[in-house]
Parts: sequence; structure tokens; C-alpha cells
Amino acid sequence: MFSDFIVNHISSSIVITNADLKILYANQTAEHFFRLSVRRLKELEFRQLFRYITLDMNRVEKAIKQNQSFTDAEVSVVTVDDQHSKIEACVNPIYHQGETYVLFELRAIDQIQRISQESFVQSQLHASRDLIRGLAHEIKNPLGGIRGAAQILDRLVDDEDSKECTQMIMEQSDRLRNLVDRLLGPNKLPQRTITNIHRVLEQVRQLMEMEAETSIQVYRDYDPSIPDFEMDAEQLHQVFLNIARNAMQAMQGQGKISLITRIASGHVIHGQHYKLVAVVKIIDTGPGIPDDIRDTLFYPMVTSKAEGSGLGLSIAQTLIQQHQGRIDCESWPGHTEFTVYLPIEK
Ligand SMILES: Nc1ncnc2c1ncn2[C@@H]1O[C@H](COP(=O)(O)OP(=O)(O)O)[C@@H](O)[C@H]1O
Ligand SMILES: [Mg+2]
Repeated sequence: MFSDFIVNHISSSIVITNADLKILYANQTAEHFFRLSVRRLKELEFRQLFRYITLDMNRVEKAIKQNQSFTDAEVSVVTVDDQHSKIEACVNPIYHQGETYVLFELRAIDQIQRISQESFVQSQLHASRDLIRGLAHEIKNPLGGIRGAAQILDRLVDDEDSKECTQMIMEQSDRLRNLVDRLLGPNKLPQRTITNIHRVLEQVRQLMEMEAETSIQVYRDYDPSIPDFEMDAEQLHQVFLNIARNAMQAMQGQGKISLITRIASGHVIHGQHYKLVAVVKIIDTGPGIPDDIRDTLFYPMVTSKAEGSGLGLSIAQTLIQQHQGRIDCESWPGHTEFTVYLPIEK
């Protein structure tokens, strides 16, 4: 039938279910996407297609009840065969001959869209960083004045109570200045020397093994073909350690951390084309990034920890950008993967 022909040549996965989300139909693209035959798909419920999905299922139920379509432009999914991808999902309830059906249209977010989203996130991050920088400088100047004045006052007064007050002003000013300095982030330009990336990673691994509880395993899988290249080894050490420490803290004493390196050719970072790129992955088997901070993960002061500063990843990102590189994060329960791309050769 001609309509079958059309539906099977659409590049989106089409899945039609009944009101209870039991699958009644799937097109060929869906078969490819889920790596399951139509026959197998029809035995399942929509939810059973995924090990993990960020689509709000309450919203789906509401949409069905109210007979209203909606689209979520960025849904993270992990299919049952452990493949992770980002998709756009359109949910269309259909009322037909007294029955309610739901037509799901799932489209893989392609590379171009991903890059444009990435540059949007980048510009947002830049804007927020500029704001913080500006604000931090505005705070620092008067703060210096306040501290200086308190110091003079401290010399002028000699009763206990007044001294306590001037000391308090100085202490609190110092505390605030400390915070502002940390918000401003690293202010040293990279000191580049030709170094082996695995030497840096091995130092990090040794530190981790010393810090880690015994039930955390650290695996490594290095690509020896990565040539030595110019880097600030101390800064990269800090980046990898920040990421690895987060991983260890997230796993709460149990799990596996993998350090993986690869070499990639023909990679684009921030619009620049590089012939050779070193790829470093730090993967843990912890609970994953909490949903509510996923989008602002690299912003300063974003933390889910009671005692956290929320500066680790923000500093890591600044340092990697100073190396003209990029950090990515993909995460779902049981798997968190930070990827650092470092250009080697233009
Ligand atoms: N591997 C990870 N697994 C789960 N959550 C993580 C991981 N790495 C980072 N996070 C989340 O990102 C937040 C920000 O990390 P970071 O910038 O290093 O600040 P901090 O560690 O001080 O909280 C953490 O509080 C945590 O919620
Ligand atoms: Mg941290």
C-alpha cells in the first residue's frame, strides 16, 4: 500500500499505541532504532522500549486524557540494548472511531542540531561567566576599602568589644574575598610543555587509588598511539582529578571508574577543524547527574552536595577551554561519562 511505503520511508521512528501505551504498530525506522522486529515491538509497552527516558510520562498521560499533542525537543533515552541517544519526541493522541490511540514520533537529533544547541549553551555560559566576572570585580573593590578601614579602626580602638567587631569585619571580608576569587576562577594562562597525556592520567589514577575506598575499582584503557603534545600538565591534572573525584563521591564507595583514551581525526571543536584530537573519557557507574542540575552542570556554584562548592566543573571547563578543547557529559542512572577533547594538531 502506498501509505505503508511512505510511513516506512520517513526518517522518524513512528510508534502507535493504544491508550494504555501498548504498542500496536511501528515503522521500519523504529525497528532500526530499537533494533527489534515489529513482531517483538508489538509485544511491548511503550515504556518497555527504554531502560531510561527523560520524557515526562505524567505529561504523556495528561496529553492522552486531554487529547492534546506536545513535543519535547530534547529527550535523553537509553534503549534496552544500552544504546544512548538524544531524540526529539512528538506525542500525538488520536481519536479514531471511538478509540484513543497515541502516535509517537521520535527523531534522532542530528549532528547539526547538536552543534547549534552546543553553541547556544556556550553563549549562555559565556554570558553568565561575564556577569559573574563583572559582579566579582565590582564586589572586590569596595570590599578592599571596607577591610582597610576596619584595619585602621582596629588600631584606634582598644576595648575588647570594639576589637571583636573590627576583627569580625576583617574576617568576614576575607571570607567574601576568598569566595569572589574562587568565582573568578583560574587566572593563570596555561604553561605549555610537551607532555604525555597518560603520565598525567596515571598520576590522577594513583591519587584516586589512594583516596578511594576498597570497593571502588579503577580501570584504564589507554590508546598508546596518542603522541605527546603541548599542554599545561598541572592544569589538566586538576581537570581530570576534579572529574574523577566527583565520580568517586557520586558512587558512594562502590562501583567502577574507567579512564579511557582514544585518538580521533578530523574533529571540530568550537568551529575549528583539527586533524588530530586526544579524547579522554572518565566513566563511572554511579547514580548519574541529578535531573535538576543537568542543564547548568558547568555553571559555577551549581552543586547537589551539602558541602559542595559547585566550582569543580566550572574550573575544569575554563581550563579545558584555555587548551582550545571541550568537555561533554552524558549521563543516565548507572552511567556517567565525561569526555574531554584536546586538540593536538590543526
Ligand atoms: N560523576 C558524577 N555523577 C553524578 N553527579 C555528578 C558527577 N559529577 C558531577 N556531578 C554533579 O555535578 C555537581 C557539580 O559538580 P562540581 O562542579 O564538581 O561541584 P561540587 O563537586 O562541589 O558539587 C555535583 O554536585 C554533582 O551533583
Ligand atoms: Mg566537585
